[in-house]
Amino acid sequence: MAKGKAIRPMIVVLMARALNIHSNRAGDLLPGQRAIAMISEMIHTASLVHDDVIDGSDKRRGKRTINEVWGERKAILAGDFILSAASMALARIGNNTVVKVLSQVIEDLVRGEFMQLGSKENENERFKHYLEKTFKKTASLIANSCKAVSILVNSDPEVHEIAYQYGKNVGIAFQLVDDVLDFTSGASQLGKPTAADLKLGLATGPVLFACQQFPELHAMIMRRFSSNGDVDRAWQYVLQSDGVQQTNYLAQRYGQEAIRQISMLRPSPERDALIRLTEMVLTRDK
Ligand code: FPP
Ligand code: MG
Repeated sequence: MAKGKAIRPMIVVLMARALNIHSNRAGDLLPGQRAIAMISEMIHTASLVHDDVIDGSDKRRGKRTINEVWGERKAILAGDFILSAASMALARIGNNTVVKVLSQVIEDLVRGEFMQLGSKENENERFKHYLEKTFKKTASLIANSCKAVSILVNSDPEVHEIAYQYGKNVGIAFQLVDDVLDFTSGASQLGKPTAADLKLGLATGPVLFACQQFPELHAMIMRRFSSNGDVDRAWQYVLQSDGVQQTNYLAQRYGQEAIRQISMLRPSPERDALIRLTEMVLTRDK
């Protein structure tokens, strides 16, 4: 398996240190906080192993996926195994609230993946559905991991909420940028980006915004771009619309809210690193 950016555990560790300092302690991680950083990456990895089966992906981060190497049945079991190891580590922390908060993540991941399999006929509902799916599939993990490390060091619910809101907003911003990059990255090198989401039948932010300008997209969204030429046609509509700019703008708003939340913590190098990290999430181009 290829190594990822490990951006999630990095956020969790920075958040834990920022919260420890905010709570009049030394920055050093508590053992439970370190465990949460690790568990969040394990839950994430387990969900990716399953996701590659669902999406039928043969590559991740440039390497062959587990389903490609071992087959789907073993890939599902491998994902389950990672999840079971994460559950054991979670129980070992010995804090019931933390168990509840991180179990919520697992429920959200599964619900988010289910939501992605369905579509909504109505345009307003569709956007709401997309943002809720995005929260559950991408942001819940980081939001609840940030909340979990705050529970271990501080008993003030307002502090838990700051941690949660930072994670939620940065997580949604991250995914919105990801959805934009699916249309824009590689455009300069390849002449044409991958549009992997369209090929999977998924209508993300840029398409949903484009549909407001080009209602012709509606039927394609409903049939999940399955007719001949749908992917190319939808792609053209998105380029002619300002769907990419509008999705980017929305991402910036979530990013600004993340920064506003984290700025309520006492200043520390870790808090400032989380602010810079948010800016990097918003400006990344791959
Ligand atoms: C990536 O999706 C997938 C996720 C963020 C979560 C997937 C969740 C499940 C499969 C539910 C099962 C969960 C557990 C805990 C075992 P993507 O296809 O949008 O991104 P990609 O391009 O990285 O594949
Ligand atoms: Mg996938």
